[in-house]
Amino acid sequence: MDTPVVLGGSPLGRLPESPWPLAAGPERERLARVVESGVWAFDGPFEQAFEEAFAAEQTARFGLCVANGTVALQLALEALEIGFGDEVIVPGFTWQATVAAVLDVNATPVLVDVEPENYCIDPQAAEAAVTDRTRAIIVVHLYDGIADMDRILEIAARRRLAVIEDCAHSHGSRWNDRGVGSLGDIGTFSFQSSKSLTAGEGGFITTSSATLRERLYSLRNCGRRRPGSSDAEWQPIQSGNYRMSEWQSAVLLSQLEHFPGQLATRQDGVRYLDSELTTIPGISTTLRRPQVTRQGLYGYVLRYDEEAFGGLSGRGFQEALSAELGTTIGPPYEPLNASPLLQPHTKPRHHLNDDYWRRIDPRQYRLPVAEHAYRSEASIIPHELLLLPTSELALIPAAIRRLSRHASALADRQRSSRAVAAASPA
Ligand SMILES: Cc1ncc(COP(=O)(O)O)c(C=O)c1O
Repeated sequence: MDTPVVLGGSPLGRLPESPWPLAAGPERERLARVVESGVWAFDGPFEQAFEEAFAAEQTARFGLCVANGTVALQLALEALEIGFGDEVIVPGFTWQATVAAVLDVNATPVLVDVEPENYCIDPQAAEAAVTDRTRAIIVVHLYDGIADMDRILEIAARRRLAVIEDCAHSHGSRWNDRGVGSLGDIGTFSFQSSKSLTAGEGGFITTSSATLRERLYSLRNCGRRRPGSSDAEWQPIQSGNYRMSEWQSAVLLSQLEHFPGQLATRQDGVRYLDSELTTIPGISTTLRRPQVTRQGLYGYVLRYDEEAFGGLSGRGFQEALSAELGTTIGPPYEPLNASPLLQPHTKPRHHLNDDYWRRIDPRQYRLPVAEHAYRSEASIIPHELLLLPTSELALIPAAIRRLSRHASALADRQRSSRAVAAASPA
C-alpha cells in the first residue's frame, strides 16, 4: 500500500496544476485602455504609475522599468561607470545573466562561492576576492535566500565598492523592514514569466540616488534627458533603447494589486513547509535570518542529505519525489564554472585582448558549496506551488516521509540500475 511510485506503488495524491502566470487582476481592462489610448510605450501613464508603486513596494526612492532583468543589470553597471579594466565580484551560483551582464560591459566577472546556509554570496569569499581593480559586488538574493546584507554593506563601505542587488528572485522581500533593491546602490528585478511578479518579460531598476536615477533614465532611453531633471543631476551619456512597453506596465500594475495577498500566502506556505519538513531526518531548509522581515521567494529550497536516505542520490530523490507529486521538483541552477549557458569564449566581441580572454574563463573557479548544492543537496519547489492551500501542500511532506520510509529500497533500485547501465555495452 505504501510503496513509492517509482517502485511500482500508486501516488498518495496529485498536486493540482498551479497555473503560472496567473491573470488575477484587471489585466484585460487595462490592456484595452492601452489599445484605445494610442500610448503604447515611452513613459506612459501605466508605466509611471507602476514605477512609483513598485519602487514604494521595495522602499526605494526611484524605480525605472526596463526591457528585462539582464538589461537592468547591464544598465546598473553602466550607471556606475564600470567597464574595461574593472572587476566585479559575482556569486558563481546564479542565473547566467548576472555574469553575462558584467561581460557585456567589458568588465571582468570574478566568481565566488556561496554560503552553505542559504546559497547566497559568501561575504568572506567576496572580501577575499577584492583586488585593486574591484569596483563592485553583485549580490543575488537566490531562490528563498537573502544575502547577508549587513556584512556585504560593511565590506563594501570599507573597501569603497558599489553594491548591486540582483533581486530577480526576491520581489517583496525585506531586510530589517527595508525592501531588497534599496539596500545597495542599485537593485535590479526581472518580470520574466516564471518570476513571482510578471508581465511575461520585463525588468526594473531601483535606486535612492538622484544622480544614478538620471543616469539610469538616460541609459534606458537612448541617452535622452529625463523630463523634469535638474541641470545639476543630468549629463549627456551614450546609450540605446532598453525601454519596456505600456502593455507590460498595464499587466504589471494589475499583477501588483494581487501581489501582497500572494506574498502573504507564499509566506504561510514557507512557514508550513518549514515546520513539517524539518521533522524529517535528512531534510532541512535554508537559513531564515532574523533580519529577513518579509520573505519573498522564487522557489522554496529543500535541502537533502543523501546519507540519511541510504545513499539515494539527490537526482534519485528528485525523480522519486516528482513521481509522487505528479509535478517536477528539480535541481537549482548549474554553477557557472561549468554551466553550458555561460560560454564567453564563443563570442568574438569578448576577445578584447589575450589577457582579458584568459581572465573571463569561468572554468578557472572552484565553487564547492554551489557544486554540492547542485549535484546533491538542493531541490527547488516553485513559488506558485506555495499558493496552494495547506491541505494540498501537505502532500509534499507526506510524499517525502514515504520516500524516507523506503529510502533503502530506493537506494538499492538506484544502485542496481547503475550496475545494469555500467554493464551494458556502450
Ligand atoms: C538571478 C537572476 N538574475 C537575472 C535574471 C535575468 O532576468 P531576465 O530573464 O528578465 O533578463 C534572472 C532571470 O531569470 C535571474 O534569475
